[in-house]
Amino acid sequence: MERIKSVLISQEKIAMRVEELARQIELDYNGKSPVVVAILKGAIIFYGDLVRKINLPLRFDTMSVSSYGCGTVSSGNVKINKDLTKDIDGEDVILIEDIIDSGNTMKALVSLLAHRGAKSVKVCSFLDKPSRRTTDFKADYIGYTVPDEFVVGYGLDYDEKYRNLPYIGILQLDNDEAKIV
Ligand code: IMP
Ligand code: MG
Repeated sequence: MERIKSVLISQEKIAMRVEELARQIELDYNGKSPVVVAILKGAIIFYGDLVRKINLPLRFDTMSVSSYGCGTVSSGNVKINKDLTKDIDGEDVILIEDIIDSGNTMKALVSLLAHRGAKSVKVCSFLDKPSRRTTDFKADYIGYTVPDEFVVGYGLDYDEKYRNLPYIGILQLDNDEAKIV
């Protein structure tokens, strides 16, 4: 059995950082109408909080993807489980993600959307775990950098559980080999 070992990021700290990210995005996209894409399912809570703080004419879309792993990253490396509903040709796109781990998923997705003709593609991830990176991917906006622990809550799951926790917690696993994503 697994359980929450400790609270890593409290609700208050989450709210504070979401506000700061929103201000930054507002400044960077002043005068624009970006398409904000929630990467399902992990980003949905963060997405809901963030978009309500951004005072810009945003357009919404969602995508569900999985990475094929750590092979050479190309537009063919991401499996699309649910695609965008509209063409993003010529659009400014902001991908909203829960956490960047190996970096494979986001690296592949950014190149795919650029290949589809997006005018710009940026990534805003609530969490970043740079110690686990296997590619050179860097997100444009990061909420918090976290240590090499398995974290849950605020949208992030372990085996589909814990997504609705209002804070980010560190999961205590029975044995560390059970670190699955
Ligand atoms: P990657 O960057 O391609 O390795 O994939 C990142 C994805 O792995 C995220 O969208 C999460 O779904 C999942 N993931 C990675 N680390 C964690 C974690 O600590 N907790 C929960 N999910 C994680
Ligand atoms: Mg996930």
